Amino acid sequence: MRARLQGKRIVICAGSGGVGKTTTSAALAMGLAARGARVAVVTIDPARRLANALGVDELGNEPHLVDPARLAGHGIEVRGELWAMMLDPKRTFDELIERLAPDERTRDEVLSNRIYQQLSGAVAGSQEFTAVAKLYELDRSGLYDVLVLDTPPSRNALDFLDAPDRLTGFLEGRALRVFLAPTGLAARVFGAGTSVVFSVLKRLTGVDLLDDLSVFFRALGGLLEGFKERAEGVKELLRDDGTTFVVITSPEHEPVEEAIFFAGKLRDAGMPFGGLVVNRVHPLDGGAPEADADALAAALGDAKLAAKVARAYAEERTLAERDRAAIEHLRRETGERDPIVIPQLDGDVHDVDGLVAIHGHLFAD
Ligand SMILES: Nc1ncnc2c1ncn2[C@@H]1O[C@H](COP(=O)(O)OP(=O)(O)OP(=O)(O)O)[C@@H](O)[C@H]1O
Ligand SMILES: [Mg+2]
Repeated sequence: MRARLQGKRIVICAGSGGVGKTTTSAALAMGLAARGARVAVVTIDPARRLANALGVDELGNEPHLVDPARLAGHGIEVRGELWAMMLDPKRTFDELIERLAPDERTRDEVLSNRIYQQLSGAVAGSQEFTAVAKLYELDRSGLYDVLVLDTPPSRNALDFLDAPDRLTGFLEGRALRVFLAPTGLAARVFGAGTSVVFSVLKRLTGVDLLDDLSVFFRALGGLLEGFKERAEGVKELLRDDGTTFVVITSPEHEPVEEAIFFAGKLRDAGMPFGGLVVNRVHPLDGGAPEADADALAAALGDAKLAAKVARAYAEERTLAERDRAAIEHLRRETGERDPIVIPQLDGDVHDVDGLVAIHGHLFAD
C-alpha cells in the first residue's frame, strides 16, 4: 500500500456494503500516520467498539487526535499524527450553509427554517454528498498531509461519484428554477387564492407554512451560486492527481461483481484506481486437499469429533478454493495484477489489535 499511495493526499475507500471499508480506512490511516504523515480518517457510522478503540465520538464533526499511547501498546509507533472523526451528515450540511451564506441573516434564516430542516435531513441522508463536502473542507484546511475517506454503505458505490452532479442537477433543475423565479410557480401558487388556504392552516396549526416556504426559497436562491461552485470544487478534487480510490471487496460473488463494475467506471471516468483490497479471504495455506481422518482420530482420541473436524476442514477448503477463483476473476477483470489480500480473521475487528492485524496485511512488504 505504501508504494501505491505514494504522493497521494486523498484516499477514498469504496466498495459494497459490509466488505470492510470502515475497517480498512482506519487501518490505512493508521499505517500512513505510523510512517510519518499527518493523517485524518473520516469514518461513516463506525461500529461503536471501533469508534471507542479510536477514541472518537459523535460530537464535534471534526477530527480528534488519536492518542499515540493507544497504539503504542500494540506495537504501532505513530511518527506522524493520526486524526479520526465520525461524519455527522446533517451537521456537515449545516456547516456548508454557514460557509456559503452571504451574510448572517441569510444563514440564520435558512438554518432555522422548517422546510430546510426537513429537506437537509433528506439530502444529508444521502451521505455521499456530505462525505465529499467534508473531505473538501478538510483538504482546504491544510492541516493534514493525507485524508482517508470511508464511504457510506450504499448498494451502488457509484452514488458516491455522482453525488456532486446530482446535487447541482437538483439545484439547476427546472423544477427548482420554476419555483424560484419571481413570476414562477411559487408566485402563482402563493397567489391570492392559495393564501387563504395557508392562512387557515396557520390558524389551525400555528405554522406559517407560506412564510416558511417563501423564506426558504428566497434564502436558498442566494446560495445557489455558492453551491454550484462548491460542487464543481468537489468534482475537481475527486479528479485531482493527488486523489486515489482504493476499491475494497470480499471474495463473495456480489461484492466482486460490484468491485469490477466500479473499477471499470473509475477508468471510464478517468479517475485514479489506487488498488484493490480483497478482504475476508479464506487462505489455502498449502494444506492437504483433505483431512487425514485416521491421523485426526488418533490425535483427538474420538472418531466422532475427528469426523466433525474433517468436515469443517473440507468446508474451509471449499471456501478457500472459491476465494482463490474469485481473486483470479478479479485480477482478470480489473487488470489489477497484485490485489492486496487480507484473510478472514477470527472474530470481528473492533479493537486496536484487530486494526493492527489488518494494517499488517495492508502494509506488508
Ligand atoms: N478481515 C476481517 N476478518 C474478520 N472480520 C472482519 C474483517 N474485516 C472486517 N471485518 C468485520 O466485518 C464487519 C464489517 O466491516 P466494516 O464495518 O469495516 O465494513 P464496511 O464495508 O464499512 O460496512 P458498511 O458498508 O456497513 O459500512 C465488521 O464487523 C468488521 O469487524
Ligand atoms: Mg462502514
